[in-house]
Amino acid sequence: MPVLEKHKAEQEKSKVHRENYVFPKLPVPPLQQTLDMYLKCMKHLVTEEQFRKTKAIVEKFAASGGLGEILQQRLLERREKTKNWVYDYWLEDMYLNNRLPLPVNSSPAMVFPHQNFHNQSDHLRFAAHLISGVLDYKALLDAHALPPDCARGQLAGTPLCMEQYYRLFSSYRLPGCKKDTLVAQKSSIMPEPEHVIIACKNQFFVLDVVINFRRLNESDLFTQLEKIVKMAANEQERLPPIGLLTADGRNEWAKAREVIMKDSTNRDSLDMIERCICLVCLDEPTMLEPADTNRALQMLHGGGVDKNSGNRWYDKPMQFIVGMDGACGVVCEHSPFEGIVLVQCSEHLLKYMRRSPAKLVRAASVSELSAPRRLRWKCSPEIQGLLASSVDKLQSLVRNLDLNVYKFKVYGKEFIKEQKMSPDAYIQVALQLAFYRCHRRQVCTYESASTRRFQDGRVDNIRSATIEAFEFVKAMTEGKSSLPDSEKMQKLWSAINAQTNHTVLAITGMAIDNHLLGLREIALEMKMEKPEIFTDETYMISNHFILSTSQVPTTVEMFCCYGPVVPNGYGACYNPQSDHIIFCISSFRDCKETCSTTFAKAMEEGLLDMRDLCIKFNTPKKASVSEGSAKQGKQEKPGSKP
Ligand code: COA
Repeated sequence: MPVLEKHKAEQEKSKVHRENYVFPKLPVPPLQQTLDMYLKCMKHLVTEEQFRKTKAIVEKFAASGGLGEILQQRLLERREKTKNWVYDYWLEDMYLNNRLPLPVNSSPAMVFPHQNFHNQSDHLRFAAHLISGVLDYKALLDAHALPPDCARGQLAGTPLCMEQYYRLFSSYRLPGCKKDTLVAQKSSIMPEPEHVIIACKNQFFVLDVVINFRRLNESDLFTQLEKIVKMAANEQERLPPIGLLTADGRNEWAKAREVIMKDSTNRDSLDMIERCICLVCLDEPTMLEPADTNRALQMLHGGGVDKNSGNRWYDKPMQFIVGMDGACGVVCEHSPFEGIVLVQCSEHLLKYMRRSPAKLVRAASVSELSAPRRLRWKCSPEIQGLLASSVDKLQSLVRNLDLNVYKFKVYGKEFIKEQKMSPDAYIQVALQLAFYRCHRRQVCTYESASTRRFQDGRVDNIRSATIEAFEFVKAMTEGKSSLPDSEKMQKLWSAINAQTNHTVLAITGMAIDNHLLGLREIALEMKMEKPEIFTDETYMISNHFILSTSQVPTTVEMFCCYGPVVPNGYGACYNPQSDHIIFCISSFRDCKETCSTTFAKAMEEGLLDMRDLCIKFNTPKKASVSEGSAKQGKQEKPGSKP
């Protein structure tokens, strides 16, 4: 079917969906339920003395006619008045108030399969093809013709809110001195963007993609990219790597931006970047092996100032990276959308590129196309000074990241399903086991759970460090020689069941984190003194996520990765496939306690032990197939620190 007709058909399908389905509003969970669950979640994670103190504070908060009830009532009123009562609170708390640099600390990346470019033409042809795919996808979005998503897995079949998709190419994170702003370009002040910014050798070029109401075809795009590469090669014209400022802390970048804005040339350049559809970064070769971990590092931070870190603009939600050495992917500013939306978009692009091979038929219009424009910057000594400081900070961020991309190949989600267990719950329990084996304790864990079943839904937290998981990991570690395997198996089942129950609560809007955040923020809005429940040590501990985890599954060969969210933590992103699981484990080198390689090894050990238990007690007949493949020694070592 021709593209336009296909879009029209999908538009109709999507319209029917939108017209017939009204997304329910996110519920406000009952106050007592949240407070009980809060105590249950934290009891085994703090000292007995601390817990006694917290229990008393929570009971006072929950007392009839007390503060809790007043705040809960206000939240219920807010629910009536807004599309999603937690959306703004959550967005600010999770992203816009965070002052840390975006790379590594906040922006996740999707790593595409390694490409083999034999020469510059191959490289640019891929980039032109990718841009063409972006324009195809954007046309679907603009026509509101994207087929609607439906939930899979737990509570499968429910329609999912599509709002996040419309922010992919139309938003920008503006740095602010205390708080950033997520700017939506649909406002009347800003016209629709019709250009892509190409980053090449740390220079930024405006590539108009619609000229005289006509979308440029791939051949035109290729020609324009060739011109850009030529312009970027001119060393006399080269300007400082101003994009590095966007990799700095948010306060620092906000201050630097104010300085930059004093000059009209700079203002024009900034405006072009802030209004673009996306960036495409044509990266220099890194001279590193094209291993998964190296490519993931390249996406997350660009490898340092001597490599490609200056070839970025981190405020823009979508930055596609096309490395001359075949390292390709996309790094995202996270505040407008979740990883699942990023996956859908990336899969569309990769499928588009596979389906329609690059068309480089010369178009008649080529000669008429004016050369893309290089963005100019007037760099005063003050800006040069700020840039030097951004460089230092970025270099330490690059040195500090310890990343391990590890493929567990012994089995995948099919084996887990054969055990009649939820693969996600199983992997979460394995993460708890790995952490316990590395650190001999259990810590607050974040697992993102989608709340897209509701209007403007984003995510809430599944607190995977359950007491049941704690019992299981202790039995598997400390009690290895004493407890019989049958008891370990029972504990595994209760850990999996507890995790599955928490998941269902979270995706149906009944988790505790967003609710507690809402109560805290509404008290602030009412100009109250911060309630004691939110100044209590336990609340601080409950929000320090040493394990930050997320399932980001794909149906096309690629994987997602991100950094830890606290200095002594791990980021653990996983992608369960039918016969293997990809893990991206991250931590910081300057933390003496953590090590991504050790964690990945513990993960492997734990997954093998859990499989052995299942084979012994669960469904031995079916499981023996997976056992066979394991015994053939297919597993590779989790790799060493890059
Ligand atoms: N027995 C057999 N099969 C089972 C099972 C059981 N007890 N429980 C689940 N399964 C099956 C499911 O039916 C599903 O099958 P499918 O692959 O054919 O669709 C599969 O196992 C996966 O289900 P499960 O592992 O339970 O996970 P899920 O897909 O429901 O995912 C979450 C759980 C929490 C990850 C998901 O609900 C979610 O919220 N995802 C979004 C996460 C996110 O936002 N990530 C990005 C953050 S930036």
